[in-house]
Amino acid sequence: MKIFLDTANVEEIKQGVSWGLVDGVTTNPSLASREKGKDFKTIVKEILSITPGPVSIEVIAEDYDGMMKQALKIRELGDNAVVKIPMTLSGLRAIKSLKEKKIPVNCTLIFNPLQALFAAKSGAEYVSPFVGRLDDISEDGMGIVAQIKQIFTNYDIETKILVASIRNPVHVLRSAIIGADVVTLPFDVLKKLPSHPKTDEGLIRFSEDWKKIFPSGEFFL
Ligand code: G3P
Repeated sequence: MKIFLDTANVEEIKQGVSWGLVDGVTTNPSLASREKGKDFKTIVKEILSITPGPVSIEVIAEDYDGMMKQALKIRELGDNAVVKIPMTLSGLRAIKSLKEKKIPVNCTLIFNPLQALFAAKSGAEYVSPFVGRLDDISEDGMGIVAQIKQIFTNYDIETKILVASIRNPVHVLRSAIIGADVVTLPFDVLKKLPSHPKTDEGLIRFSEDWKKIFPSGEFFL
C-alpha cells in the first residue's frame, strides 16, 4: 500500500520523505488555504520537485471547459502532476477527455461505491473515497472502501483506490486489510503510525538496564 501525504505544507513533505514513508502527495483547496501569505503556484512547484511520486492538484472550475483548461495548466507544472477532478457529470466528461490525452486523474469527493465505479469507467487513475466525512454523518466510511474493492475485483478494474479523509491509524490499518492501493494521510496521522507505548516503555527499560552495566557509557567509547 502506497502512502501519500494529504498536505500542501512543504516542511511536512520534506520530513515525511526523509523518513522514507512518502510515495506521493494530495492537495486540495482547503489545504492550500492553510498556507497563508505564500504564492500557491510556487509552493506547488516545490512540492512537485521534492515528492518522489504523484502529486494531486485540484481544479476549481465546475464546468467541463473550465476543468479542461485548468487540468492542462496543472499538468504543465510537472510530469508527476495528477489532476484532481470532482465526481460530477462534467467531471466524468473531463476525466474521459483527460484519459484520451493520457493525463492521470484522481477523481475526488467520492462517497459511494457506484460513484467510484463510474469514475473508473470514465478513465480515472485514482478514486478518492472520503472515509472520515462519511463517518462524520454516521455512515461506515471503511465499509464503502470495502465495497469499492469488491466491485473493482469483480470486474478487474485497474483504477487505484486512494483512501482519503483519513482521521486515525485505524483507518490506515483497515485500508491495508481491505487491500486499498493508497492511503493519503494528514501529517499528524503519519507521525502517530510508528508509535507504540510499549516501544517507549521498552526503550526506557533497555536504557536503564544498560546503565547498570556501563554507568558512564564505556561500551561505546
Ligand atoms: O484530500 C481530501 C481529503 O483527504 C479531505 O480530508 O479531513 O478534510 O475530510 P478531510
